[in-house]
Amino acid sequence: MNDPGRSGPAIDLSTDLCGIPLAGPVLNGSGTFDALAARKAFGDELLNDFPFAGFVSKTITVEPRAGNPPHRLWETPSGMINSIGLPNPGLSAFCERDLGPLTELGVPLIVSVMADSAPGFAELVEAVGGRDGVSGIELNVSCPNVHSGLIVGEQPDEITALLESLRGLTDLPLIVKLTPNVANPELIAAAAEAAGADAVSLINTIKATAIDPDSNRSWLGAGGGGLSGPAVRPVALAQVRAVSAAVSIPVVGMGGVTDGSSALEFILAGARVVAVGTENFRDPRAGQVVRDGLEEALHRRGFSSLAEAQASTLS
Ligand code: SIN
Repeated sequence: MNDPGRSGPAIDLSTDLCGIPLAGPVLNGSGTFDALAARKAFGDELLNDFPFAGFVSKTITVEPRAGNPPHRLWETPSGMINSIGLPNPGLSAFCERDLGPLTELGVPLIVSVMADSAPGFAELVEAVGGRDGVSGIELNVSCPNVHSGLIVGEQPDEITALLESLRGLTDLPLIVKLTPNVANPELIAAAAEAAGADAVSLINTIKATAIDPDSNRSWLGAGGGGLSGPAVRPVALAQVRAVSAAVSIPVVGMGGVTDGSSALEFILAGARVVAVGTENFRDPRAGQVVRDGLEEALHRRGFSSLAEAQASTLS
């Protein structure tokens, strides 16, 4: 929605992500906005101005997961460490209970999945890909909080093998969520593209910990977690820039997007769309703030549409 308070012509924010039509370029980062809880809290008013142009679900695994012991969240200067550990109801309960309501949000739904083996990923992709109302699947190969989540995302050969095993199972777009915890994420992205990925999203969180100086123990129940928020934005921008220069598939850019200006930084670094993550914990309307602020930032820079900015990436 264009900001009615801003003077000047409306900026066209519409776009698409590997064939998924989007009214604007602002998504949520997986696991950072509980749309079903928000709908309970705010009622159908939430749907009248949903904060995101597309919704990415919390990551689902085949079996239910309880997640990590507390503390699971730790505030840091300009950021946050999470050690959540992918708590989720498991595939069956997700499909029976949550998937239907998530398809009623009024925006395209992308389901995030993670498994510790290729057959596990295959089961998730087949089950979710066969359901009405799902527009895309994000493969989370980059969670730092579960041992098996990270390995595939660190190795180009493993990514190739995984994508090749999944590509024939669905016609839906497959979006690979990349880890920043490697020297060259562009090599992982290129392997994903060559094996049939339709898009990549980055960055997931940066491995981190927080120490209690009185006990010399980590404040986090699992001993460590992943850093996100504005503190990681410069790293995210560098990786988005490197990855988008290395691949032709679209890039979902995230890592400390808090406002229109930071969203524009990601678009100019080569991201087709952006995702808001940590900021949702501070402000549940962060998606609207970023969208409206991006419109303002585009106008300020003299762009007449998002498409113009997308075509004008950094050299
Ligand atoms: C978590 O649930 O541990 C966070 C999700 C992720 O880092 O992928």
